[in-house]
Order: sequence, then structure tokens, then C-alpha cells
Amino acid sequence: MPLRPADLASRKQAGLPISVLTAWDALSAALVTEAGADAVLVGDSLAMVVLGHSTTLPVTLDEMLHHCRAAGRGMAGATQAQQPLLICDLPFLSYQCSPDEAVAAAGRVLKETPAAAVKLEGAEPETLAVIDRLVRSGIPVMGHVGLTPQSVHQMGYRRQGNTVASQEALKRQALALQDVGCFALVVEHIPAALAGELQQSLTIPVIGIGAGDLCDGQVRVTADLLGLTSRQPPFSPPLIQGRALGAEALRRWIAGLDHPAAPGTRPAAPATPHC
Ligand code: KIV
Repeated sequence: MPLRPADLASRKQAGLPISVLTAWDALSAALVTEAGADAVLVGDSLAMVVLGHSTTLPVTLDEMLHHCRAAGRGMAGATQAQQPLLICDLPFLSYQCSPDEAVAAAGRVLKETPAAAVKLEGAEPETLAVIDRLVRSGIPVMGHVGLTPQSVHQMGYRRQGNTVASQEALKRQALALQDVGCFALVVEHIPAALAGELQQSLTIPVIGIGAGDLCDGQVRVTADLLGLTSRQPPFSPPLIQGRALGAEALRRWIAGLDHPAAPGTRPAAPATPHC
């Protein structure tokens, strides 16, 4: 049985760390599954990492579904016991317009891909109403507060929760997301002490990125960890210089290619023996 959303809460209760890694296709999903991730997130960061957009906003629901199906195929090789939970981001404007549209979008994720949960950003009253509707429709939802990249034109990529007032607001948002039924919460680019307070006060797992070590788990964009992206965010440094290592290996392969001798100077091919 693949991990289910509720299994993440069991890991929190047992004091076990939760690892979430992003994937965008079969190859990356197979890699993070083999590494032992508890959950695989097809994040809308694929808009920037894989599709070359400058923000996450342009990626469409159809594109997310396409990549999520590919990620699911990449995980299929693992034994059932090792199958991580597959979560798919709902892209910008697939859930903000109305709860009905959100159910339709999240319903497509669960019907047309192997994902068992969706993630969406924010905790405004309208977003809470959307999550309430999704959860009541049987769709597990992971929340996401702090730096929310779909709001880049309002908040940039700056750290959030820098004032007492904004920290109090984030605490209220986190509690509201738990109360409305989110099974876990991503907190991005907020002070470590605040993330630690949320980890203590919430019963649902708090999964951090750029939020210090006091969370129940961590999520990272796999391409950042592997150093494949041209620039990594300061809070997600690479573990290896994958891009430089890959380019160097390919450069060596290209340099080692033999050029066939010019026509006319080639040695004659050995005569084919006749039977
Ligand atoms: O889209 C994404 O990859 C994300 C993670 C950074 C949490 O939302």
C-alpha cells in the first residue's frame, strides 16, 4: 500500500522525520522514490525548473496532469511497501475562482493521475472555503503558507513572518488550515523559531523549506538539491554540483568523438567473403 496522507501524521506522532521531494517526470520520480522519499510532490515549480518560465504562474492544469502521470509511472517500479505518497500542486487560478472549479480541478488530479492529494497555496477566507469544500468532497489537501510563489507579484520571494504582527497572522492562518482539514502544512521561507512554534502547536505535520530544522519534515525542489538549476534559492543550497558535473561529462564525451577520415582516404572496407 503506498503511503497515505494520514501516514504523515503517524510519522509526526512517532517523532519520525518526513521527507518530501519534488519530481516532474518518470526519471526524477524514480530517482526520489529510490532515495526513499516519504512523499513525492509534483510541484508547480516545474513551471520554472522544467518548462523554463520565469514564475510558477503560467503552468496549466493540463500540464500538471501530464507531468503527474509521468511521475506516477516513474514510481510504479517500487514495491508497494516503498511507494511514497504522490501529491500534485493545483496551479495558479485552477482553484481561486470558486469552490466548484477547485473541486473540478482537484477531481481531475485524483481521477486522471495516481496522486492521492493536492497542495494549494494561501489561507485567505476564500481559500479556506475552497479547502473546506475539497476536504468534504474526499480530496486530501496539503496547505502552503509563508512565501507562496503564486503571489510573487505581491510578495516577491522575500522571507515572510519578519514582524510580530505577521508572525501572529501566520499562526492564525496555520491553525485555520488545520481546522479546515489540511492533512499537512508546507511553511516556506519563514523564521525557524516561528516554524518551531507551529510544529509544537499543530497536530498536523509541518513541512519546511527555508524554515529551519524545527519542522516535522522538509521539502525540497530536487533540481535545487542536485545543483541542476542555474541558481538555487539561498535557503535551498545544492548537495552536489549536478549541472557542472553533467556538463563536464558531456564535454568529455563530445571531445572524444572520432571524426571519420575524409572520403577517399578511408581504408578500404574488408571484402565480404562470398559463400
Ligand atoms: O512547487 C513546489 O515545488 C513547491 C515546493 C517548493 C514546496 O511548492
